[in-house]
Amino acid sequence: MNRVTTRISPEEVARQMELCGRIAEMNAARAAAPAAFVDTYGCQQNEADSERIRGYLRAMGFTFTDREEEADVIVINTCAIREHAEQRVLGNVGALVHTKRRKPGQIICLCGCMAQEPHNVDKLRNSYRHVDLVFGPQALWKFPELLWRIYTRRGRVFETADDPGNIAEGIPVVRQGGVKAWVSIMYGCNNFCSYCIVPYVRGRERSRASADILREVAELAAQGYKEITLLGQNVNSYGKDLSEGVDFAELLRRVNAVPGDFLIRFMTSHPKDATERLFDAMAQCEKVAPVIHLPFQAGNDRVLRAMNRGYTREAYLEKVRALRARIPDIVLTSDVIVGFPGETTEEFEDTLSLLREVEFDALFTFIYSPRKGTPAASLPDPMGKEEKQANFQRLVDLQNEISLKKHRAYVGKTVRCLVDGRSDDVRNNLTARTAGGRLVHFTGDESLIGGYHNLKITDCSTWALFGEPAE
Ligand code: SAH
Ligand code: SF4
Ligand code: F3S
Repeated sequence: MNRVTTRISPEEVARQMELCGRIAEMNAARAAAPAAFVDTYGCQQNEADSERIRGYLRAMGFTFTDREEEADVIVINTCAIREHAEQRVLGNVGALVHTKRRKPGQIICLCGCMAQEPHNVDKLRNSYRHVDLVFGPQALWKFPELLWRIYTRRGRVFETADDPGNIAEGIPVVRQGGVKAWVSIMYGCNNFCSYCIVPYVRGRERSRASADILREVAELAAQGYKEITLLGQNVNSYGKDLSEGVDFAELLRRVNAVPGDFLIRFMTSHPKDATERLFDAMAQCEKVAPVIHLPFQAGNDRVLRAMNRGYTREAYLEKVRALRARIPDIVLTSDVIVGFPGETTEEFEDTLSLLREVEFDALFTFIYSPRKGTPAASLPDPMGKEEKQANFQRLVDLQNEISLKKHRAYVGKTVRCLVDGRSDDVRNNLTARTAGGRLVHFTGDESLIGGYHNLKITDCSTWALFGEPAE
């Protein structure tokens, strides 16, 4: 049964904006405008959330810095997906004790997915006493109110109760750059893959009204944004909690109909919900980029079942075939987990064979990391670290071979690319992306940034393409 999504009323959001105004008045009375530092870990959802946090902070009169020691307010937007992500956050938050000692009055906030994990909240409460404010992703909409409490009362604030979440419209955003934009279309996840923490920390699936999404896309297109990425943990579930009758395939068609010269990307698609309706929409919408991120996680049916993924290897392969029948040059990327509890090396061979069969353009590879409170964390996990590491290495080596082969096929071709920024490559000054999202380094005039240009691909590596402006 679908629960009814809670919508935060416009009055409630207006009250948050009024509190921003009061903080801005306080800030205006200071000799110099105070600075804020927003540090983001994790996925694009978190990047998009940080843009809203910056939107609020700007409305409060803050300028931005990326130096902790200069910041009057620090916001750390955290990720809980793997142990390593959490360790990095805790290490960096720990070090802020010294920064704060040198800058008394500095306010340290921690938000994002770790703020919804009870064991981490306890740790922050007891051992990271320099952190003033802790709030989960579902409480982001009331950040002004929480910060106001810090300013006006003594003591720390923890807004970390379990929260299925809501939809709040009208929160201001400060976007990073003027070329590519994130647009969240839904929040949360109901899939409960047995290894994954996301459903516990991000609440239940809830969709924004299509009219709100289309309005945002139209504004972005009018502002000249060239690439719009629709975001959700499983965009294919879009609309299931609404009574609009608009599913993700229909939403894509409507976004495609928004006037303007921009490309549409989306992530992430869960394979179990990726339908032929979606593939048809992708094939028929000229603005939808010919690329899909379709995480398969494992190539063996027993492991897929234990992961609670809801599809078999064959069903996955069938979707890939259906997709390629419609869009032959589709760029396919995926996520894989190595070393899921109980996965044998023999079962892992099925992951390798799936790789050979599909030949993904790029792969995001992870070693399983137990997450407290998820079902997989209590499964027996007999395989040693060395064996998992060895399997992981075989996976990476095979994918590198495939990526290189895929990249070689571009050499000699001329492709239309979006020039998106400065390159860190020693021989080139600019980067661009093909419609399928492949990275291209090239040398050209900086005025090309933000436009579509034809590039001739002259060389490649496992990771990137190299090109030059075509005549
Ligand atoms: N909603 C997306 C995934 C978000 S998490 C989807 O379902 O496709 C991104 C990736 O992190 C996952 O696809 C998975 O490969 C990996 N991941 C998630 N939990 C993990 C864990 N406990 N250990 C290792 N990798 C994990
Ligand atoms: Fe995690 Fe699965 Fe939801 Fe993706 S679909 S966020 S892997 S539970
Ligand atoms: Fe991490 Fe939360 Fe995203 S756990 S991957 S930041 S949804």
